Amino acid sequence: MREFDIIVYGATGFTGKLVAEYLGARDHGVTWAMAGRSLAKLEGVRDELGLDVPLITGNADDPASLRAMAERAAVVLTTVGPYQLYGEPLVAACAASGTAYVDLCGEPAWMRHMIDAHAATARTTGARIVFSCGFDSIPFDLGVWTLQQAAQERFGRPFPRVKGRVVAMKGTFSGGTFASAKATMAAAAKDPSVLKLMIDPFALTPGFEGPAQPKGLIPEYDEGLGAWTAPFVMAAINTKNVHRTNALLGHPYGTDLRYDEMMVAPGLGDIGKAAAEAMAKFNPIGDDKGPAPGEGPSREERENGHYELAFLGEMPSGERLKATVTGDRDPGYGSTSKMIAESAIALVRDVEGDGGIWTPGALMAAPLVKRLEANAGLTFRIG
Ligand SMILES: NC(=O)c1ccc[n+]([C@@H]2O[C@H](COP(=O)([O-])OP(=O)(O)OC[C@H]3O[C@@H](n4cnc5c(N)ncnc54)[C@H](OP(=O)(O)O)[C@@H]3O)[C@@H](O)[C@H]2O)c1
Repeated sequence: MREFDIIVYGATGFTGKLVAEYLGARDHGVTWAMAGRSLAKLEGVRDELGLDVPLITGNADDPASLRAMAERAAVVLTTVGPYQLYGEPLVAACAASGTAYVDLCGEPAWMRHMIDAHAATARTTGARIVFSCGFDSIPFDLGVWTLQQAAQERFGRPFPRVKGRVVAMKGTFSGGTFASAKATMAAAAKDPSVLKLMIDPFALTPGFEGPAQPKGLIPEYDEGLGAWTAPFVMAAINTKNVHRTNALLGHPYGTDLRYDEMMVAPGLGDIGKAAAEAMAKFNPIGDDKGPAPGEGPSREERENGHYELAFLGEMPSGERLKATVTGDRDPGYGSTSKMIAESAIALVRDVEGDGGIWTPGALMAAPLVKRLEANAGLTFRIG
């Protein structure tokens, strides 16, 4: 038994504060505390949100403070990023102390380094470490899982080809996400091995490499959808997590899965084509004028946001099926803060499982789908 079920580390940041607000809004049946590097800032968040929760200080520059924090919790939920800059001491502390861990990481090269460095320790201590518990990659990971479950039920086998398609998405990004994307670009420019991992669809499945994957890098017309599609910026992380889920579960989707993600462009014919080409050229992190750390979309923008994803499966013999995932709120913050909070609660209340470095889909797919539908404004359905 630990002192707290969940410690929210990074509660002073843009997303961490939303997580604290979500946990504090009603009784979730868990004990929790807020943590960060500045006590004064934590007190400010506690007062602003009208919460009555204990506060803990911990700093990425002081690994002993993180070890002490990890030993007090069943689960540490961390929104302290960029993870490649500040994340490793906490992963190490949780792995060593047998503490479960959830994050919002969308930085695959760093994730691979963490798998290589800390998965063995986590297996020994029983620490269940789960990366990517936000918009990247929960709706995609669980969307493919939902589709493949249905394929098994209806056809007795998985789809070897699945297309993940962003049908609609409304939302912007925060300073932390901007900083993470910049950090990834800087790391890739400095170290070719980072770039190699970024472009390798099987970067997160050490020891396994599947077939060549569709690249999804240029606009294309999708006959099945009757629409033009454009590259999707999160595909590089989500597709890797989908392959990792498949590998961790012993390949229930087959060893020959081909999976890509693209965005559906609005408009038909030439208008759709022009829209897809414009979307392909748009680079939201192309300049330095992004939001600063701590900044992000307004409450109104978050509440007016939403998303809809389609997962299209196709058998070589022609059978097809579609799974649809929807979320209320903007994907990156309104919805993400609920997804990571529910992931942490699931680890406390619903899921056992061995220690190791997991994906959401491999460790807790069914209970998490149930929880997200009941509490977090997501839907998962076939059709
Ligand atoms: N996967 C997804 O869907 C998704 C969605 C949203 C965000 N994210 C990721 O989540 C992360 C956070 O984003 P955000 O916009 O919330 O960032 P943010 O507002 O900049 O918050 C960062 C947090 O990290 C803390 N921090 C920074 N350096 C630290 C250190 N040395 N020790 C301890 N704490 C430290 C900050 O503390 P101070 O307040 O004291 O500065 C703050 O609490 C980013 O990596 C982002 O990419 C992912």
